[in-house]
Amino acid sequence: MVKLSCHHCGHYWDYQGKTKYYATCPNCRYKVRIQPEESIKPELKRRDLDSRKILTKEKKPKKLIGIAAIVSRVIEKHQQNKSMLIQILLQLQNDFGWLPREMLTEVSKQLEIPLNRVYQIATFYKAFSLAPRGRHLIRVCMGTSCKVRGATTILDKLQSTLEIEKDQTTPDGRFSLETVNCAGCCALGPVITIDGDYHGNLKVVDTEKILAKYK
Ligand code: FES
Repeated sequence: MVKLSCHHCGHYWDYQGKTKYYATCPNCRYKVRIQPEESIKPELKRRDLDSRKILTKEKKPKKLIGIAAIVSRVIEKHQQNKSMLIQILLQLQNDFGWLPREMLTEVSKQLEIPLNRVYQIATFYKAFSLAPRGRHLIRVCMGTSCKVRGATTILDKLQSTLEIEKDQTTPDGRFSLETVNCAGCCALGPVITIDGDYHGNLKVVDTEKILAKYK
C-alpha cells in the first residue's frame, strides 16, 4: 500500500493497485506518478497541501444569505435571463412588498446588468415601490374621465382623512396612497382601487365607510 497525493486536485489516498508507475486519482481521474510518500520532498508536500486548500475553496460554491439568497432564488427561477428583468423585479416586489436599495444592487450584481438600468426599470413602472408600503394600497385614478367626475375631490378627501399626501404611507403602516393615470374602467369613474378591489362611481361621503373595511 502506498500513500499517494494527486498533483491535480490535491486528493490523498492509499493506493493498493497493481500498476507500478502510474495510478489514477479516484477523485479527478488524473494520472499520478507512483511515488512513496516518504520520498516526496517536504516543500512539495506543503505546496500540494496549499493547492488542495485553494482548490477546495474554489470548488465550494459561496453560500448566499439574506437578500442575496432571496434574489438568487428568483433569478434562478428565471434561468438567469437578463431579458426577464421586469418579471424578476415584479416577483421580488410581490414577495418582499417593496424593493430596497440592497435588493436592486444584488439584482444588478447577479444578473450582470448595470445598476442604473435596474433603477430605470424600478422607477419607471408604478408597480414597483422603492419604499415600504402599508398593509393596504389605495390607488386613486386621476385619468381624464375620472377627473371630470370628481377624482380630485376624492383624492383630497383621502389625503385629509388619512393625514398623508399621495405617495406616502400612514404612520401606523395601514394605508399607502398612490395615483394612477387610468384604472381601466373609465365608465365607472371616479374610481379607486384598494388592494386590487375596484370601487367605482365613488362619492366623497362613501370613502370613510370603504376605508373602515380595511383594517
Ligand atoms: S380614467 Fe379613471 S378609469 Fe380610466
